[in-house]
Amino acid sequence: MGQDASPPAGLVAAAQRAYHNAYAPYSSFRVGAALLADDGRVFAGANVENASYGLSRCAEQSAVQALASEGGRTFETLVVVTDCDPPAAPCGACRQILVEFAPNATVWLVSLSGHQQLRTSVAELLPGAFRFPA
Ligand code: THU
Repeated sequence: MGQDASPPAGLVAAAQRAYHNAYAPYSSFRVGAALLADDGRVFAGANVENASYGLSRCAEQSAVQALASEGGRTFETLVVVTDCDPPAAPCGACRQILVEFAPNATVWLVSLSGHQQLRTSVAELLPGAFRFPA
């Protein structure tokens, strides 16, 4: 994990693309996420809502599902794109899901325009996370 000043451009582009694919007819709040797996593959995800609201999926969860479904088991960097100021951070449930696969990952919160890029990490977002006892 580097201390880069900005997220990889390809990852931002993938998250922006996912943002536009979000299915958010109920909240109208789109979220796009893209992660860089340790083997260099990029996986993206969008939020996918449901008329039964509790069945809605967050973008970060969609991206992690894509990673794991293709055999990926960890990632180095995650970009989350939202159209708000400041760009939104992952919800509590997503933080726990991120910890499962990448407790050491860098997380970038990026605005839709790409002009705002806030750097954080999974560890910073969820200190003291629950891990299954070894
Ligand atoms: N949402 C995400 O995709 N990620 C988060 O971390 C927070 C919330 C989505 C869920 C719902 O579709 C919409 O944003 C409003 O909560």
